[in-house]
Amino acid sequence: MTKKRVFSGIQPTGNIHLGNYLGAVKNWVDSQDEYENIFCVVNTHAITIRQDPKELKKKTYELASMLLACGIDIAKSNLFIQSHIDEHAALAWILDCHIPMGDMSRMTQFKDKSVKNPKNVNVGLFNYPALMAADILLYQVDDVPVGEDQKQHLELARDVAMRFNRDYGECFKIPKPMIPAVGARIMGLDDPQTKMSKSAQGENHAIFLLDSPDVISRKFKKAVTDSQTSIVFDQTRAGLYNLLSIYEILTGKTREEIESEFEGKGYGHLKTALAEVVIETLRPIQENYHRIHKETGYLESVLYNGAQQVRPIAKATYDKTKELVGLL
Ligand code: TRP
Repeated sequence: MTKKRVFSGIQPTGNIHLGNYLGAVKNWVDSQDEYENIFCVVNTHAITIRQDPKELKKKTYELASMLLACGIDIAKSNLFIQSHIDEHAALAWILDCHIPMGDMSRMTQFKDKSVKNPKNVNVGLFNYPALMAADILLYQVDDVPVGEDQKQHLELARDVAMRFNRDYGECFKIPKPMIPAVGARIMGLDDPQTKMSKSAQGENHAIFLLDSPDVISRKFKKAVTDSQTSIVFDQTRAGLYNLLSIYEILTGKTREEIESEFEGKGYGHLKTALAEVVIETLRPIQENYHRIHKETGYLESVLYNGAQQVRPIAKATYDKTKELVGLL
């Protein structure tokens, strides 16, 4: 039986944090035997917001190192940089010409980002979903893991692909959304009502994967909880629930085991135990990261080979698209 092909994209902006790891990257790592995975650092998407060029390049390679450090295994999966394959932007143009303005205008992320960056509301930001559709459609993928915030974009990709196939003949596989496992939605430590985010300002908001043990302990110590005392999984107590969920995922213990472990103990105890587990989880990842970073040339060759491997798929789809619309 052939494995399903899955495409996952992650932007190289901001620093990768525990929410990214538990909500996405860990699932990617754990699914490497089950799926034929294509992992992509989507740097071309990143310039929809103005970036410092040197910083963008640095972040792109840092993120790729971090994905390898987290356990993306290039013997099993593909990892490449979006801008290394020109067909992404090229296909996005053809898709642009087949997406009604009305459909694109309904994208809520564009509205949110425009409000956050009123000085740079550019056409690329508006067309962002077409580039994302191109990422996915180029590789004829079966499934795409998406969080709530990206569902609408995937829906648009499916729509444009179906319309294109209907009007010009079979060209794209129609991708399906893959909903992430429950419990993997990690919230901000300083504000458990909002998802942990790369761009949030608070210094105790997120645990970054490269945080030192001291910083991790401090951030958990300051994590917002409530004025009650019992340590139980209760969704209405968002701060505590978030901490317990992280503990649950990382230890693999059941909720009953965790509740009895902390019975009669205070929040301080939970926070210390949690910090310990997170520190031990991140220790090997940080060691891998620093090792990969020191081996000059290694990362470049991994990413070069990654692009070489998938380019033929991208090229075949793009050429087919060109041919169907009369450009080839
Ligand atoms: N838009 C996605 C995000 O912000 C990143 C992304 C770009 C992506 N291209 C993709 C995700 C293709 C999945 C598939 O999270």
